[in-house]
Amino acid sequence: METKIMKINPNSPDPSLIEEAASYIRRGDLVGFPTETVYGLGGDARQRSASRKIYQAKGRPSDNPLIVHIADMDSLYEIAKDIPENALLLAQSAWPGPLTMIFKKTDKIPLETTGGLNTIAVRMPGHKIALELIKRAGGFIAAPSANISGRPSPTLASHVYEDMKGKIPCIIDGGKVGIGIESTIVDFTEERPTILRPGFLNPKQIETVIGFVKVDEGLLKGKGKKPKAPGMKYRHYAPRAELTIVEGDLLEVVYKIRCLTDEGQKAGKKVGVIGSQETIFLYEKGVVKNIGSRSDEIGIAGRLYRILREFDEEEVDCIYSEAFQTPDMGEAIMNRLLKAAGHRVIKV
Ligand code: TXA
Ligand code: MG
Repeated sequence: METKIMKINPNSPDPSLIEEAASYIRRGDLVGFPTETVYGLGGDARQRSASRKIYQAKGRPSDNPLIVHIADMDSLYEIAKDIPENALLLAQSAWPGPLTMIFKKTDKIPLETTGGLNTIAVRMPGHKIALELIKRAGGFIAAPSANISGRPSPTLASHVYEDMKGKIPCIIDGGKVGIGIESTIVDFTEERPTILRPGFLNPKQIETVIGFVKVDEGLLKGKGKKPKAPGMKYRHYAPRAELTIVEGDLLEVVYKIRCLTDEGQKAGKKVGVIGSQETIFLYEKGVVKNIGSRSDEIGIAGRLYRILREFDEEEVDCIYSEAFQTPDMGEAIMNRLLKAAGHRVIKV
């Protein structure tokens, strides 16, 4: 199958191009499209066969449910029920935006889309192209991140092309995404609202609106519990090279990474390093990437996946990264980095 790339200006999307992309989705095919978080791989959430195609194109286990993307509040009531007041308050303050909420599902969405669960994840993305595409495609687009299962999520259309070339008919190129890390998932089917996946929207922001939010115990270290979002249990977001995080006092971290880089190079390996603006000049060897200033958390989150993919292109054998326990987004950044590293951490 030939994969067509359609360039669309995200600030003033050309309706005729979006209409063409939407026609693929209406007839049951898949389209790669930008959202404000990461690129999605979209299909009509109501068509069983479209959901099956999504799992197939990604190589994703079929028990890992998809997020259904909507463009208006009326659509929410068609696919979700028993929606608590707090969820509506949160929707009012964070939608359209990087928030996904889980509710009980109605029969409108088939079990193929929700990985066999009777709950449903819903998100209204804050991106003009995405919203227009959803409207024209009939209102309900099931879309996981548009990467092959296990690879870093795409933040550029070229990343989608790398992973989906020949498997889908169309990719919308709307440029670089704004956020670069996936939405925060909040589960409203438990007694207390619970964060199942940390994301751009942080717990403090959520608590300002609804008073209290729990964090899924399966995400916390040492609890020995399984995460409730099926997708959080897989090794994920991972580059091909072995990634190790070095954690501790920053200067000691730099020293350790310098030693590890030396050792790796002596062993004949191509070594990658993820450093920050504050430390980058201290690394002299290896393929060194600057993830940005430690005071710019949004920038760090936004560059992470792209850097992991760049290392793949440059065919490094191993990567050492500093840890980024930043105040607001540290949770989300470290969640992705730890998963990419398969939890390989060296403490200094
Ligand atoms: O920012 C995002 O959320 C992006 C863009 C494209 O919207 N989408 C995304 O989808 O990250 P995906 O499929 O890569 O991740 C969806 C996550 C998975 O961890 C999945 O297990 C979880 O959401 N999930 C979906 N439905 C669920 C449900 N009913 N109960 C629990 N977890 C659910
Ligand atoms: Mg994903």
